[in-house]
Amino acid sequence: MILLLTLISIGCGNFLGKVNNVETDYLRVFLFPHSHDDVGWVRTMMEYYKDQHGVKQIISSYMEQLIKDKSKHFSQVEIAFFSIWWNEQSDTMKEQVKQLVKNEQLEFLSGGWCMNDEATSYYEDIIDQMTLGHKFLLQHFNYIPSVGWQVDPFGHSNTQALFSNMMGFNAWFFGRIDQEDRSIRERKKELEFVIHPDTDQGHSILTHVNYYGYYSSPRGFDFDVTNPNRQQVTDSNLQSKTDELARYFNQQQNSYKGKILAHTLGMDFQWSDAASYFGQMDRVINKVNNNTEKYKMIIQYGTPKQYIQALYEQNITYPSQQEDFFPYADYPNQYWSGYFTSRSAFKGYVRRIGRYFQQVKLFYSFMKINNQCKSLCDETNLKNLAEALGTAQHHDAITGTAKQYVNNDYIKMIKTAYQEMNKQVSTLLNSLSNTQSITHSTCNFNGSNVCHSLFDPLIKNQTVILTVIDAKVNNDGIKEYLKIFVPDNLFIKALDEKDNLLNGEILCTNEQCILYLPRIVDNSKLIHFYKLQTVASQDDTDIIKIQPETITVDKDTKLFGKFKLNYNYYVSSSGAYIFRPDGQPHPYGNYIKAYNFTGSLVKQIYIEKSGIKAWVTTYDEDENIFYLDTFVDSINMSDYRGKEVILQVITDINNNKVFYTDSNGLSLQRRQVNHRDSWQMTVLEPVSGNYFPVNGAIMIKNENGNQACAVLNDRAQGGTSLNNGVIELMLQRRLNNDDNKGVYERLDEQEEVDKKKVGMRQMMSHTIVFYNPKSDSNILRQLQYQQDLKPLIYFSTQDQVEYKSLENKFEKFIEKQSDYNLCKFYIEPWLTENQYLVRVHNLREEGIQKLKFPAGLKFTETTLTGNQELKNWEQNRFIWTDTYTNQSSKQTYQEDQVGPMKIRTWIVTI
Ligand SMILES: *[C@@H]1O[C@H](CO)[C@@H](O)[C@H](O)[C@H]1NC(C)=O
Ligand SMILES: *[C@@H]1O[C@H](CO)[C@@H](O)[C@H](O)[C@H]1NC(C)=O
Ligand SMILES: *[C@@H]1O[C@H](CO)[C@@H](O)[C@H](O)[C@H]1NC(C)=O
Ligand SMILES: *[C@@H]1O[C@H](CO)[C@@H](O)[C@H](O)[C@H]1NC(C)=O
Ligand SMILES: *[C@@H]1O[C@H](CO)[C@@H](O)[C@H](O)[C@H]1NC(C)=O
Ligand SMILES: *[C@@H]1O[C@H](CO)[C@@H](O)[C@H](O)[C@H]1NC(C)=O
Ligand SMILES: *[C@@H]1O[C@H](CO)[C@@H](O)[C@H](O)[C@H]1NC(C)=O
Repeated sequence: MILLLTLISIGCGNFLGKVNNVETDYLRVFLFPHSHDDVGWVRTMMEYYKDQHGVKQIISSYMEQLIKDKSKHFSQVEIAFFSIWWNEQSDTMKEQVKQLVKNEQLEFLSGGWCMNDEATSYYEDIIDQMTLGHKFLLQHFNYIPSVGWQVDPFGHSNTQALFSNMMGFNAWFFGRIDQEDRSIRERKKELEFVIHPDTDQGHSILTHVNYYGYYSSPRGFDFDVTNPNRQQVTDSNLQSKTDELARYFNQQQNSYKGKILAHTLGMDFQWSDAASYFGQMDRVINKVNNNTEKYKMIIQYGTPKQYIQALYEQNITYPSQQEDFFPYADYPNQYWSGYFTSRSAFKGYVRRIGRYFQQVKLFYSFMKINNQCKSLCDETNLKNLAEALGTAQHHDAITGTAKQYVNNDYIKMIKTAYQEMNKQVSTLLNSLSNTQSITHSTCNFNGSNVCHSLFDPLIKNQTVILTVIDAKVNNDGIKEYLKIFVPDNLFIKALDEKDNLLNGEILCTNEQCILYLPRIVDNSKLIHFYKLQTVASQDDTDIIKIQPETITVDKDTKLFGKFKLNYNYYVSSSGAYIFRPDGQPHPYGNYIKAYNFTGSLVKQIYIEKSGIKAWVTTYDEDENIFYLDTFVDSINMSDYRGKEVILQVITDINNNKVFYTDSNGLSLQRRQVNHRDSWQMTVLEPVSGNYFPVNGAIMIKNENGNQACAVLNDRAQGGTSLNNGVIELMLQRRLNNDDNKGVYERLDEQEEVDKKKVGMRQMMSHTIVFYNPKSDSNILRQLQYQQDLKPLIYFSTQDQVEYKSLENKFEKFIEKQSDYNLCKFYIEPWLTENQYLVRVHNLREEGIQKLKFPAGLKFTETTLTGNQELKNWEQNRFIWTDTYTNQSSKQTYQEDQVGPMKIRTWIVTI
């Protein structure tokens, strides 16, 4: 009876509902054939696509099987690849694929552009890459993904859990968690649990940790044509293979609650011969299913969505989880905390362009809304940059764990898209100012510090227009500093739009000069400009060059009476993924010289060591905020030993082994040295086992909680606080070992300087802040806001300019707060000509943001990626039963409010 019913309903693609009505003790096993196609790793993305047995062949191959046989299912993950394949198909094929989606044979898991990393991606970049994939699925299939799929990232963040919920997922899947945690969970049947990423009850999500091999087929059942050790199922071994598979699932059942099991089928770049894979598996599955009396189980192909539906109907109570999953260790001494910092320059580049992208989307949208685009706007520029940045979030890209030539390919993709985007910006600025063929250039300082688009005209006595695009909202009156590299030995004046002289200070070290130009933020306009000109003498300018005083600084010097700054390094046998230092850190470099600059706006201490240059700057007599720029020179590898350079900020704060690190730039997670909340941890690696990803800030505070120090960074880095009062961040790694995790290359980045190969050099920034968390809870977020919304600067050589002003329909949308406004406003073009995706992020830790919806615009609130109405998801979402006992309930806000740290998304029709 059961058997008959099963067979019929598999045929109808409706297995679940029917079997559920039947009283059965049989174990039900769902097998998920799935794609795991890295968008670059040891080969470039396009090589992977075109290779023999590559992604093009894989997708075509499984599609053919799905079309042939309705009992077959497949889950496609990476939209980056799928969209390429899709664009190459005939209309007939496209129709067939749409049918497969409709009848649920083909599912899109996660639906992001890639499977993003969770440790080193910034939250805005995660949202963007997910939005990009979801938009594609909405456009072509009207499909809304409902299951997250993060089966390969090397640890998991609470922000990713939160976003999975906010994107309308009912559950998500992991592959990798700490080996000690995993074995305890296996014993306690806790490989499925409900994560509460924050205290809002509405944000919980069911999490499934895969049983074996992260995301591979059951041991012994990898039939893929690319597996050199694959076994064939033959008449003679069919019986023993069948027994083996049944035993395997009976074993698996010991680690999960309930009577339903899930298992992945497939590995990296498998399924290029789907007929043979399915064929072999079919024989074994049929044998089990034809002998239910003996095996007491039914195995079927399915999708995670079907499995999650079946789980939900079981109504089991799950354990709850609040702690995130960092750092990850696959073996006792192998903590994957090196990749938090690997390829520091690339991480910095991706972050910088990611920030740029947010602002340029806004500029572009405002141009479009104001009908300024005409024939000038080309949306492929935005799309190409979105795709390049999306690809870079991949868990072998931004992580710094791809081969060097693959990483070069990522950089090329971003750089090309960025340059095209800048040409677009330049065209639009010309149009706005009724000028033609004026080039508006950016300056990217990457070691040379010479900005030709600024230096050359100044030297020739030409006027340089410095155009500022500022996407901040309602921060009028706030003072900020522009930092501009200028040529040495010239007197320079700066003028505002009304030709008033501006004051400023120039500080030079080693012939490298920076103009610090204060400006008062004026958000009534998106675009501002200043003029820079060379003048004959100091009398003609209010910009003053500050002369340095030589001072002596060593590791014990307290800077500005507040903190000591040490640069140290670990010697290690680490690789790109793993951090494994040989003991304690050593002092890095010898002190060479130090300067003290005392301007009236800017105070700065410059410290030069061999291998390191550091500038510590404060503005306007502020005693609590210090901007640190560090130049990390080529790391000396002549002794063939890997080195990892760290920054230590040494304070008097008694933090007693507790510190806090952000989650992808959002909420701070409590960390404690040698401790995990979820299990009793064995301390094997006292340093690397206490390293956590830092994407925004690392903070320590005293036990009263009224004295804190935080260090913000400008890119992802690993960080910890091992000694009392000390904040530690890893800045740069140059390694001499591979760590056997598959990349098979040493992380030894090099660049050419004066025709000689040296280790990669890098300029990076940190902000050090001392504050009282009780009375000044938002200061960290204010600094983060300032950094994320640093205005975009373009230089052009022209005497005069006049920009038409752009009407801002959203001007009153975000109501002015009494103090610093910490609300981010995002906008980008959406599916149709007059639709835009709009987001508001209240970055405050405390304080509600009020909204005033502009009249005449239609707002539809959606989930995070804009692909379904929020109402729809809230009505249909799964509410899992778990052991979470915290009294807090779902937080609700008025229609016109954004709660602290909340993000809301709308599709707006204009
Ligand atoms: C087992 O079941 C399959 C269908 O699932 C059927 O095609 C096959 O003939 C059956 N084999 C035996 C030996 O009963
Ligand atoms: C699920 O189980 C809980 C208690 O375990 C019970 O309160 C609830 O009514 C059940 N829900 C359904 C839909 O059966
Ligand atoms: C730095 O910029 C210069 C000029 O744009 C360029 O030639 C050089 O390749 C860049 N170096 C790096 C490491 O990107
Ligand atoms: C620039 O202008 C100044 C003063 O107007 C003049 O002294 C100087 O010679 C000029 N330099 C060049 C290169 O024309
Ligand atoms: C730098 O100069 C200022 C002003 O003279 C002085 O107060 C301060 O102590 C100096 N800092 C150091 C580290 O010497
Ligand atoms: C690198 O270190 C070695 C000593 O280990 C030293 O002899 C050599 O000069 C250093 N190279 C550079 C470029 O500093
Ligand atoms: C419970 O929720 C409150 C806020 O509602 C929070 O402060 C507290 O830390 C939570 N407790 C736990 C154990 O998560």
